[in-house]
Amino acid sequence: MRPAFPLVRTTTPVPEAERRAVLAAPGFGKHFTDHMATAAWTTAEGWHDRRVGPLAPFSLHPSASVLHYAQEIFEGLKAYRHTDGGVRLFRPEFNARRFARSAERLALPVLPEEDFLASVEELVRADEAWVPGAGGEASLYLRPYMFASEAFLGVRPAEEVVYSVIASPAGPYFPGGVTGITLWVSSRYTRAGRGGTGAAKCGGNYASSLAAQIEAREHGCDQVLFLDDTGGKGDLEESGTMNLCLVTSGGELVTPGLGTILDGVTRDSILALAAEFGLTRVERAVTFAELRAGAADGSVTEVFAAGTAAVITPIVALKGEGFEFTVGGGAPGKYTLDIRGHLLDIQYGRAEDRYSWLRRVV
Ligand code: COI
Repeated sequence: MRPAFPLVRTTTPVPEAERRAVLAAPGFGKHFTDHMATAAWTTAEGWHDRRVGPLAPFSLHPSASVLHYAQEIFEGLKAYRHTDGGVRLFRPEFNARRFARSAERLALPVLPEEDFLASVEELVRADEAWVPGAGGEASLYLRPYMFASEAFLGVRPAEEVVYSVIASPAGPYFPGGVTGITLWVSSRYTRAGRGGTGAAKCGGNYASSLAAQIEAREHGCDQVLFLDDTGGKGDLEESGTMNLCLVTSGGELVTPGLGTILDGVTRDSILALAAEFGLTRVERAVTFAELRAGAADGSVTEVFAAGTAAVITPIVALKGEGFEFTVGGGAPGKYTLDIRGHLLDIQYGRAEDRYSWLRRVV
């Protein structure tokens, strides 16, 4: 059967020695594979021109809507090499469904789930040699995205849209490893409000997080923590690129409920795994005052962040205007490290895939 995204192989692949050097120390988001998947959409034709072809720049008219009004969405997922040599994706159906919800929020056309899956799978097959070897914590990070390519300066949903997937071999997102990071609690910036785009994975959310990220760096922190001030209570939202989880001395795994935050794949997976660690999963609003008091009196024993790129990253300290405190004595917590290890074991095929989360591609 003809693949949904037929492959036109590049005639100028990255030389093998260069690829091997990249795979030995990939970093995050710095190197790209030989191919990309693309599809085009117009109101007249719907989705068409699906293909996997050589990685190449786009040619865009200077008035393309995305450049002016940020009509854009994206996803992030990873392909993992197992010791049997095969390559698996982790819960790509979850990404496909979230991509469809983001598209609806940004008035972009919905890409059918089977196209999302076929584009990712066929790109991974074309660039299989770029999937890092089993054994470490490296993977092939896949970045599906969609943008308004129509040349038009009026503000309305674009009638021409491009969908694409690129791939990038990835090591740890935070090069410091799992020693733990410090979050800057921004009192100046918020990320989202009710009715806004907080739950969508759109570039605009990340663009607006950058000033807060700079503020965090200026205060010696690794990332920012956004609070939701719409209710005036300072509920925890998420960090710039990750969801947040707390472990309590009462054996609960608590994470802010959905609404204005990203419905994270890693967040959802951790909630599903909580019971295996004897933790009760709780999704509810958590005020920053509660977190601070809990860290002080020992009722909040661990805090960690969760995301596809960052996996599970311990939060060992929080800082803001006029305060600074540690969590769990400033060291990564046991549950944090155990859940992280177990999730990676599932992803790399070292633990049983009880929830059928893995999808074999190669
Ligand atoms: C991911 O974890 O996949 C993300 O999208 C975070 C990213 C913006 C690096």
